[in-house]
Amino acid sequence: MKTIGILTSGGDAPGMNAAIRAAARAAFANGLRVKGIRNGYDGLIKGDIYEMNVSSVADIIHKGGTILGSARSSEFRTKEGQDKAVKVIESYGIEGIVVIGGDGSFHGANILHERGIKTIGIPGTIDNDMGYTEFTIGYTTAVETVKEAIWKLRDTSSSHGRGNVVEVMGRHCGDIALYAGVAGGAESILVPEVPVDMEQVIERVRRGKKRGKLHHIIVVAEGVGNSKEIVEKIESETGVETKLTILGHVQRGGSPSAYDAMIASEMGVKSIELLMEGQSSQAVGIKDGKIYNLPITEAVNTKSEFNRELYTIANMLAN
Ligand code: F6P
Repeated sequence: MKTIGILTSGGDAPGMNAAIRAAARAAFANGLRVKGIRNGYDGLIKGDIYEMNVSSVADIIHKGGTILGSARSSEFRTKEGQDKAVKVIESYGIEGIVVIGGDGSFHGANILHERGIKTIGIPGTIDNDMGYTEFTIGYTTAVETVKEAIWKLRDTSSSHGRGNVVEVMGRHCGDIALYAGVAGGAESILVPEVPVDMEQVIERVRRGKKRGKLHHIIVVAEGVGNSKEIVEKIESETGVETKLTILGHVQRGGSPSAYDAMIASEMGVKSIELLMEGQSSQAVGIKDGKIYNLPITEAVNTKSEFNRELYTIANMLAN
């Protein structure tokens, strides 16, 4: 192996830059040439590719976003798009590609593998929705961002005796809501993995109001789907004025947490080790605190397990 490429794809996540840096530096240490592929699979199809050197990845470990840019490519889902990408890869002499992204990006990596290009997937998404790995890069940073927001909302809620419904990201996964909700001390946490019990939410607000509680924080994962209705129901049933805060893309930005920067660094190095061993279509993850790898096809079929113990704790503490 002489030349590799690196791309980031799907929703960006804090720590992607740390992963790019680690993969590039490990590649240089192994005497490889590194091509930066801009804007995910879209850039691959267009040939938006540049030669990277040690300076290309200097001073990026602490930066949010991705210096390579990211995209959700609809063209790469087509056979024509894939054919174009393969031609580009061959014309640049790229033999292996490190793909940093979520599930969809891993599917893309497997397609390239089937077309004879060696690929390694690194899990980069704030959602933590990839079951084969304990953590995805960006998740703990997003949790910290949400926890900060919850604590700020508690301040202003308390001043006005209001309720606050905080909608957080995560697609179909409730991990951001659960971890940030527990850390932030939310009264209720609603996630797609557990049926919504509005009576319980309302009862908690009523009970809190009775004992003079001034803030009522209800964290709702976006996968639950009806934050506005939840606000209306709380207001009409309890008489507590309730605001809706949709945190949105602020959760995707910012400097990575130490944990995200650390696992990104370890995973970046592992991806190059695997390519040097001649492996392909492998997903890098973390299990029992150790970096490991398994075939991408197995990784994408591993169901994400919801942390029921933590959910039980959240309910106990809310009482
Ligand atoms: O997958 C990351 C994520 O931020 C999800 O939590 C969210 O549902 C989605 O991406 C938003 O996507 P976009 O940035 O394309 O609006």
